[in-house]
Amino acid sequence: MTIQDETIFRRRLTRHMDELRWLYMELYNDEGMFDQLCADLHRFAEARGDALKARDLLREADPGWYQSQELVGMMLYIDNFGGNLKGVRGNLPYFTELGVNCLHLMPFLNTVPERSDGGYAVSDFRTVRPDLGTMADLESLTAACHAKGIQVCMDFVMNHTSEDHEWAKRARRGEQEYRNRYFFYTDPAIPAEYEKTVPQVFPTTAPGNFTWLEDCGQYVMTTFYPYQWDLNYRNPRVFNEMMGNFLFLANRGMDIIRIDAVPYIWKQLGTGCRNLPQVHTIVRMMRMIGEIVCPSVILLGEVVMEPVKVVPYFGTVDKPECHLLYNVTTMCTTWHTVATRDTRLLRKQLDSVNSLPRQYTFLNYLRCHDDIGWGLDYGTLRSFGMEEIPHKKYLNDYFLGLTGGSNSRGELYNDDPVTGDARFCGTTASLCGVEKAAAEGDASALDRALRFDLTLHAMMFLQSGIPMLFSGDEIAQTNDYSYKADPDKAADSRYLHRGKMRWDLAQRREDPSAPEGRIFRGLQTLNEIRRHSPAFSPSADIWTLDTGDDGLLSIGRYAEGQKIIGIFNFTEWDKRVTLPYDRGVFTEMLTGESYTLQDLTVPAYGFYYMEQRF
Ligand code: GLC
Repeated sequence: MTIQDETIFRRRLTRHMDELRWLYMELYNDEGMFDQLCADLHRFAEARGDALKARDLLREADPGWYQSQELVGMMLYIDNFGGNLKGVRGNLPYFTELGVNCLHLMPFLNTVPERSDGGYAVSDFRTVRPDLGTMADLESLTAACHAKGIQVCMDFVMNHTSEDHEWAKRARRGEQEYRNRYFFYTDPAIPAEYEKTVPQVFPTTAPGNFTWLEDCGQYVMTTFYPYQWDLNYRNPRVFNEMMGNFLFLANRGMDIIRIDAVPYIWKQLGTGCRNLPQVHTIVRMMRMIGEIVCPSVILLGEVVMEPVKVVPYFGTVDKPECHLLYNVTTMCTTWHTVATRDTRLLRKQLDSVNSLPRQYTFLNYLRCHDDIGWGLDYGTLRSFGMEEIPHKKYLNDYFLGLTGGSNSRGELYNDDPVTGDARFCGTTASLCGVEKAAAEGDASALDRALRFDLTLHAMMFLQSGIPMLFSGDEIAQTNDYSYKADPDKAADSRYLHRGKMRWDLAQRREDPSAPEGRIFRGLQTLNEIRRHSPAFSPSADIWTLDTGDDGLLSIGRYAEGQKIIGIFNFTEWDKRVTLPYDRGVFTEMLTGESYTLQDLTVPAYGFYYMEQRF
């Protein structure tokens, strides 16, 4: 390292040393392993490329860069979108055309195709799946993205490895050093004891939390699929090695590391094995390790839990953990609102997000690669007269298209025969009615469905946080049923909404009369508005308004002399509304037309972005 780089490294290390050592000793009480970790940090800092080091310095000077109103993300599967890493690189202008400048590349590390869980069963953290390319391709992609002002996000699957990972293979062969990296038990009593308190993640597709390994006469802990072996973070070797993998990947040019399934990483007999205090110690250490070696890289926590469990993953203002978290409650509450046409719970949810400190930044999304789970605020719903079990049944029936005047098409996911619980899958367009209307050749239903699709996106864009689109949703892609013919995927209905990018349909993205063009051009406009309007600043005031009609949701934003009032109609009826305190003339930002908000008609499933300047 140059003297200058060495000085920078020391400065960053010194800043965190006391706390890092304290937390490490609290968890592991092992000086030797701590020294080894520090030596690794130095090694990865030394190996970091010059362009990334320059990025680190810039972002240290602008630590809130990721809160920018210019950031709009998209998640995509490399093979579905571009065939391989080179194909994605060749198609970067597509994102720029749409106004997307942050790509979450879905898992691309080595995995065994028939046991991959969509790439979340990693067999080697340091190589790319061969059909997608090489680490060199990845580095050229991240460099090309950076040159175009595009950020790159990848998954770091830290809770488990695949059973095909070198460690797992050696553990299987009986090497104690490697068995100690997982949870192995000969005595069935211990797994049985765990099962008493640990809930199931995949009750239908992978019941139970342990897998019996016939060949070694042992049980191994497998919270997710049987081929995903849980890592034992009580072992400092596991922590150190996994931090090495994290930094290795960060050094390939990542801007955002999504820490997958992070609430699960610490296990303790007699507990639910989720969100234990030690998880927060580990995430806090990761945050400091990142700030020491690669401060331009931020952490996105995947915490699919109820709100009181999610927010602690931001840490505190003095001791932050994740930079970004998924806004999972708003996501599922949005779909609840679609099915009920009752915006009360969503308004309450947005109010609670708006009351959090502004540095807590959420990633907003309508749907992702996973199912939609009904993690709603049932206490509040009960006060509206909606009970949990029948309401979940109503929601699932609604999105199956069976009840409530629904136009949705989707499929259940992991319906639990014991609890009667189920989650849900489908693309945004299919859930909004596009698939059904197109199949029935009903032009006016299609028009309404597309309008609703854009309305939901517009509502998501206006919320506090960063919007994340799902590849294909920008051209209203519908469900892909082909997974049913693939024996490795057929049991997992999440593949319904993980279809191949339909480039044939994307050809029509500039045609305003085509469904693809309507959504694509609509999103382009929303992106433009978001990027250029002062009221979208991350420090803007954000509030919800009482519309006097539960079918309508209204969100206000204000900054620097610009006020935007968004009004969203969740019903199939045109609605008249008066917002008594918002007087004077407003300009609708998509059409440029003038309105007052006194006796305004909001079209069925439609929305307005009303603007006033002061
Ligand atoms: C995360 C991923 C999901 C995967 C699971 C196990 O929740 O989003 O797709 O199945 O982790 O790794």
